[in-house]
Amino acid sequence: MQTNTMRSCFMCNNTIRSNINGAKWTSNIKIRNSTFLSNQKQFFLPVVLRPKSTPYYPYGQYGNKRYQHTESKTSGKMAAWQIHKYGGNEQLSFSNTCRVPPISNPDDILIKIHAASVNPIDVGMRGGYGSNVINTLRGIFSQLQVASEFPLILGRDFSGVVIQSGRGVHRFKPGDQVWGALGVEKPGSHSQYTIASQREISKKPSNISHQQAASLPYVAATTWSAICTFGNFTQQKASQSRVLVNGGSGGIGTFAIQLLKAWGAEVVTTCATDAVAMVTDLGADEVIDYKTVGVESSLKETGRFDFILDTVGNMESYQSSLLTRGGMFVTLVTPVLTNIDKDGLLGGLAKTAFSILPKLTSSLPKQTNYRWAFFIPDGKALGTVKDLVEAEMIIPQIECVYQFRDLPLAYEKVGEKHGRGKTVLDIISYNR
Ligand SMILES: NC(=O)c1ccc[n+]([C@@H]2O[C@H](COP(=O)([O-])OP(=O)(O)OC[C@H]3O[C@@H](n4cnc5c(N)ncnc54)[C@H](OP(=O)(O)O)[C@@H]3O)[C@@H](O)[C@H]2O)c1
Repeated sequence: MQTNTMRSCFMCNNTIRSNINGAKWTSNIKIRNSTFLSNQKQFFLPVVLRPKSTPYYPYGQYGNKRYQHTESKTSGKMAAWQIHKYGGNEQLSFSNTCRVPPISNPDDILIKIHAASVNPIDVGMRGGYGSNVINTLRGIFSQLQVASEFPLILGRDFSGVVIQSGRGVHRFKPGDQVWGALGVEKPGSHSQYTIASQREISKKPSNISHQQAASLPYVAATTWSAICTFGNFTQQKASQSRVLVNGGSGGIGTFAIQLLKAWGAEVVTTCATDAVAMVTDLGADEVIDYKTVGVESSLKETGRFDFILDTVGNMESYQSSLLTRGGMFVTLVTPVLTNIDKDGLLGGLAKTAFSILPKLTSSLPKQTNYRWAFFIPDGKALGTVKDLVEAEMIIPQIECVYQFRDLPLAYEKVGEKHGRGKTVLDIISYNR
């Protein structure tokens, strides 16, 4: 499996070079410098101001040991990709004079990022997707500290090394190799350093590289949230269940198939013709090729499901006829954030409630369940996934690795929405 990964990466690097030679992106990429940044202060939009008394923890602590503040261990500056307003890839700007983020909460951990992945949410957030809700969350979670919308560093997951931790952190120490996925309200991971809460990370699996590790945290936390938190499904239930993963070839699908197989479920999945071999290799018991057969009739022929994880959003009209009595349908494709983006918080919530109501009521007579699910950061779940990766029951599926400088190409690739596994950024190899 690792051989496949490497082969894909080399193929991908060739693609990157040809794109650069063709000047597809380079003309649009703006390389920012410190002058530019200082000129951008007008873009800072403080949501809430930090009062003078808010504590700041200049020294970290691990057990009884105190250790030096990061400023002595880093230059205080880092490279990062930022946006200063929402839009297309032309808004992505690279700066190597960003400030290394400070530890400002006891739970905070400063992490040097070796690799990060690119997810559809990064491409969506670049264009402003979810900004109404995310700005509200920023205001709530910033706990009276300055919370700026711009400049915004995107990227939700990473694999890296702990540099420093706040005084409330006892499970991690400098030098630990960790992986994690950050809450959507936080500055992201498409940078050389990031701050994560200890609740968002776990130790990284020891048997895989940082690049391989970086491909998993966001899809793992999202799948965990959909299956276990929103879907109320457990490993024990899975071992006696028939499960459908609708859309098995992308980041979420390739992870979900492996998790459910590791838990002993019978797994059926849907994908395009070119991905049938890949999802079969991952352990899917039955594969429906949506390019060549009618999905609804084929799924009905295979028998009913105890649980459906939907990553595509195209089976709303018939999902309940596929479920056993008491069965659960959980979809990750929801209109909530888009509705709130368009109609504001109250209008969007009202519209959302209006659209989910018929789905909930139509499930009632058939005694099935219908849920929407969302990504929730979950370091504890990542700890369980770490064990499954170390037992080689889950193997990272990497389609492409891009150099940090080539991030816009990675966004372009992920934005096409035809992923076969994950797209990863190699950040540690970046030299100024
Ligand atoms: N609610 C949340 O918090 C949350 C969190 C994470 C992700 N999501 C959403 O979940 C979805 C999946 O995420 P991801 O990271 O896995 O995206 P991804 O890596 O882009 O994968 C999407 C996959 O779906 C496949 N696909 C498209 N149409 C299909 C169809 N009709 N039947 C079967 N497969 C189909 C695509 O391949 P082909 O088109 O080539 O077949 C691709 O492999 C996205 O819409 C994402 O926005 C939501």
